[in-house]
Amino acid sequence: MNKTFYIETYGCQMNIVDSEIVTSILIKAGFKLVKHIKEANILLLNTCAIREKAVERVINKMKHHKSLKNTGKLEIAGILGCIPEHTGDELKSKLDFIKLQVGPDKYRTLPELIKKIYREKTYFEELDFDIDENYEDVTPYRSENTNAFISVMRGCNNFCSYCVVPYVRGREKSRSMDSIIAEVEQTLAEGISEITLLGQNVNSYDYEGVRFPELLQKVADVKGLKRLKFATSHAKDLSEELVDVIVRNKNISNSFHLPFQAGSNTVLKNMNRGYTIEEYLAKIDMIRRKLPDIAITTDVIVGFPGETEEDFQQTVEVLKNTEFDNAFMFIYSERKNTASAKNFTDDVPKEEKGRRQQFIADLQKEIGLEQLRKDIGKTREVLIESLSKKRKEQYKGRTEQNRIVVFDKITNFNVGDFVKVKIIKAEGVTLFGEIVK
Ligand code: 5AD
Ligand code: SF4
Repeated sequence: MNKTFYIETYGCQMNIVDSEIVTSILIKAGFKLVKHIKEANILLLNTCAIREKAVERVINKMKHHKSLKNTGKLEIAGILGCIPEHTGDELKSKLDFIKLQVGPDKYRTLPELIKKIYREKTYFEELDFDIDENYEDVTPYRSENTNAFISVMRGCNNFCSYCVVPYVRGREKSRSMDSIIAEVEQTLAEGISEITLLGQNVNSYDYEGVRFPELLQKVADVKGLKRLKFATSHAKDLSEELVDVIVRNKNISNSFHLPFQAGSNTVLKNMNRGYTIEEYLAKIDMIRRKLPDIAITTDVIVGFPGETEEDFQQTVEVLKNTEFDNAFMFIYSERKNTASAKNFTDDVPKEEKGRRQQFIADLQKEIGLEQLRKDIGKTREVLIESLSKKRKEQYKGRTEQNRIVVFDKITNFNVGDFVKVKIIKAEGVTLFGEIVK
């Protein structure tokens, strides 16, 4: 079919990979990817439902894009990903011009579905889950040239009480190690030097008895892989064995993303997280003991139902004492169907939620900068990722700790190379340095 398409992606890294998968499926079927939205006959928004704000944003964006029907070439607009699973019918009534909705397990149906819409000029949706769908044989179409995301598992079985993911992405399923290794090899052959393995909870990866530490080791062993990262880990499943794999392999990034969500055990219990804060902090101690130079990042939710000022202060204490490099801080957003929506009342007032978020955001800003400042004077191994956005005569790269560094370009070094950079300054979330010759 001689039609053009454009995809806009929202949400997490999983969605970035999914958009690459969709692009690959559509190109194979003869559709043409275009760089500008105005050139597209088919517009797809790959969406996130994790918080209500994410849903509102997509609805507003799509309303805005409607005008492309008159000013551009738009013929079919569709919604992909998590929102169709979460908001299906409601979305259709708010955006009456959309012609398709497809959930995360049904992307293979897109070419046929689009053809059908052109033929029959009506709306279609595909929202079923498929426990066997891993898109193992689809090579994602990548536009980036230093880092590739490779999905190792899909879905989630954890059922944290606030979280919509198990409902919009379905049950957990792990992809075969062979297909992952094959994709890693292929990606490296294309000249990409850095790989991030992705899953909603990589620690529960299990393919015919192969668990995540073994998979990570096998991937780290692939010849030519300069840097390996992974996300996301769940504190209840994180093992010493996994940390030991990082210790043993120089090409695995010295960084960890380990959400704690809340500092109060009452809140953690109501969230169904499966650990106490003491257990979480013991895991942090274990990681830091084995990897003293590690950078740790986290996720936090404020304003979970019933969160008192005292509960919140416990979150503050954890942030003060743990020295995270960065924390992603979210205001609790009630999601329909989830256990917390059914069992609790969303009772923390909106203004109070906002105050709590702002308080820890300000606090973490200081703590994060303090972490960066500790690097001043040190020489770090940096992988050059791109030209700096602001100034073309500078490179942007990342240290082994995944910290962003900006430094002057000098000849002989290119994107994808490792260089030694002496850190001279830290500002905001960025380090500045100079290449050590
Ligand atoms: N409300 C607010 N934040 C949420 N997260 C997940 N679900 C919700 C929700 N209902 C946050 C968690 C998770 C991150 C990806 O998003 O902190 O780790
Ligand atoms: Fe958002 Fe979760 Fe879907 Fe990712 S899996 S896009 S975070 S709802």
